[in-house]
Amino acid sequence: MGTHLWNRKHLLGMADLSREEIHAILDAAASLREVNRRDIKKVPTLRGKTVINLFYENSTRTRTSFELAGKRMSADVINMSVASSSVKKGETLYDTLATLQAMNPDLVVIRHPESGAQEFLARHLDASLVNAGDGRHEHPTQALLDLLTIHDNLPLLEQADFSGLIVAVCGDSLHSRVARSVALGLRTLGAEVRFVGPPGLLPPRAEEAFGVRVFHHLEQGLEGAHVVMALRLQLERMSVGFIPSVREYFAFWGLTKARLAVAAPNAIVMHPGPINRGVEIASEVADDGERSVILDQVANGLAVRMAVMYRLCGVGGGR
Ligand code: CP
Repeated sequence: MGTHLWNRKHLLGMADLSREEIHAILDAAASLREVNRRDIKKVPTLRGKTVINLFYENSTRTRTSFELAGKRMSADVINMSVASSSVKKGETLYDTLATLQAMNPDLVVIRHPESGAQEFLARHLDASLVNAGDGRHEHPTQALLDLLTIHDNLPLLEQADFSGLIVAVCGDSLHSRVARSVALGLRTLGAEVRFVGPPGLLPPRAEEAFGVRVFHHLEQGLEGAHVVMALRLQLERMSVGFIPSVREYFAFWGLTKARLAVAAPNAIVMHPGPINRGVEIASEVADDGERSVILDQVANGLAVRMAVMYRLCGVGGGR
């Protein structure tokens, strides 16, 4: 794994990652995957390093895979439970981070409901930070694992690289940090990205902001797509009625086998998870062993997070 393409202290988003930096992480992740297939799944790469996971929002995939990634590389990993911490006594995010920093961790992984929280902390604190999701803003490690999964499938999709690829990101992109991060990463690598969804669930001025094409009709957006990414309908972030009903949403926007017929031959189906079966995606699609790569995304998430830690902890680049 080369060290010359990665000189960052933090990973806050995909917006300013270059093509070379993205490929450096994908290459490192592809190499580190082998560790996860061994009988003894442990390497000494991060021995003596300390990683703190600090999640202010719920998570299964991201939190677990960061913990496992650190442990498989022999780091000391602390999962701080926000629910039983002094956050509940009113301690601010800044003071919580300053307190943790006083214990001299090498890396802090943070998920927070406020967009921009990690950027603020990175300006004021010394520790290396990884953004594990901030509000509706960015989720860079999810985008990187998505890019690795797509990269793995380029031969199946009969594509030499990302430049000829069409990716349809379907559903609630308005509330989705995944949609933003993955669109930014895919555009950097040269793919065509489509945001497909009802007008009320698309980010304002998406074309200019993310360089995507916008479609308000599902079948039109799916036509010829090599990759179809369904997004979770984020009902918990909706303060007003964005949709008439879940049943009606599925009727118009649910991903079914019949609707996928217009996509490219061998098109793959992705979802960042957690999935809402019968809302944005039918079980016949989510569980389709030919098309669905949803669990491959999860497996790649572990490798990508190992690669990110490796780069940021000063072993494969970083400070
Ligand atoms: N995709 C994702 O971030 O999943 P979790 O919320 O389970 O971490």
